[in-house]
Amino acid sequence: MDRNLALEFVRITEFTALASARYTGRGDEKAADQAAVDAMRRAFDSVDINGTVVIGEGERDEAPMLYIGESVGKKLDGAPKVDIALDPLEGTTICATGGVGATSVIAVAEKGNFLHAPDTYMNKICVGPAAKDVIDIDAEPKVNIEAVSKALDKPVSDITVVILNRPRHEELIRKCRETGARIHLIGDGDVSAGIATCQEFSGIDIMMGIGGAPEGVITAAAVKCLGGNFFGRLHFRNDEEKERAKKMGVSDLNKAYSMEELASGDVLFCATGVTDGPLLRGVRALPGHMAKTHSIVMRSRSGTVRYVEATHDLTKKPNY
Ligand code: FBP
Repeated sequence: MDRNLALEFVRITEFTALASARYTGRGDEKAADQAAVDAMRRAFDSVDINGTVVIGEGERDEAPMLYIGESVGKKLDGAPKVDIALDPLEGTTICATGGVGATSVIAVAEKGNFLHAPDTYMNKICVGPAAKDVIDIDAEPKVNIEAVSKALDKPVSDITVVILNRPRHEELIRKCRETGARIHLIGDGDVSAGIATCQEFSGIDIMMGIGGAPEGVITAAAVKCLGGNFFGRLHFRNDEEKERAKKMGVSDLNKAYSMEELASGDVLFCATGVTDGPLLRGVRALPGHMAKTHSIVMRSRSGTVRYVEATHDLTKKPNY
């Protein structure tokens, strides 16, 4: 994959973040999400790729834009063929409530390299580079926490586990608490939480629990770039979801997917902050119709992680 594509994709997440940030704290999740989807769709038209959305806003009948299977990009002769996993606004509720850590994200891989994950849930475990060889998605939380504690050479009481604060995680939270580890409960946004395990400054060591399957694939791509590790197993709520998964080509419904099986080959990941979070600063509106964005862009092949701070003159942005 051409490394120069990275900047093109950052342009897309920047544009999307600028549009959705206008809905920060306005209590309207739908409008925030719609603004993000509209902006991202428009931004794709200016990028010379021949892209297919494989993780998107849903299936064609339920999502008018950025649906799974939609082809995006200028598609000029010779344009690189890539698969795209996207979430125009990761943390819709976060944005609508003016909370912490809403982002706009895109992951890119060569054709056929992302798992075509159905829009169901996924049980996930994710750690940073120092603990990448010690986790087991089938093991009890205690076993994983103790293994990570050993790998990181710090006591269990200094290990922090991040978990989505949901009733379905009652038992997981109890089991983690019993080990004496620290628990960080989050309202939303497990892509950022997964990335945080790979960043020492975040204070997060493990992410565990059930979140969106599409977000799982995107997180696997990001964590791969950062040298961490991720495992995920699809978690179905009913037979209908199982049928949909089968239709999308999932033959073993109980399979534990490795990071490599979720996002193989060379992958690229970029995200722009919409609201302030531990990973990225949110969009800053500046005087004189200017704005600042903060993004991360990385590629698995080179392992380079770049932070991009951009100042935008909004009077010069077409369609903004
Ligand atoms: P959205 O941006 O689609 O609202 O997703 C936010 C999120 O918190 C994800 O980060 C997470 O994977 C998923 O929702 C969890 O789903 P649920 O809110 O149904 O528990």
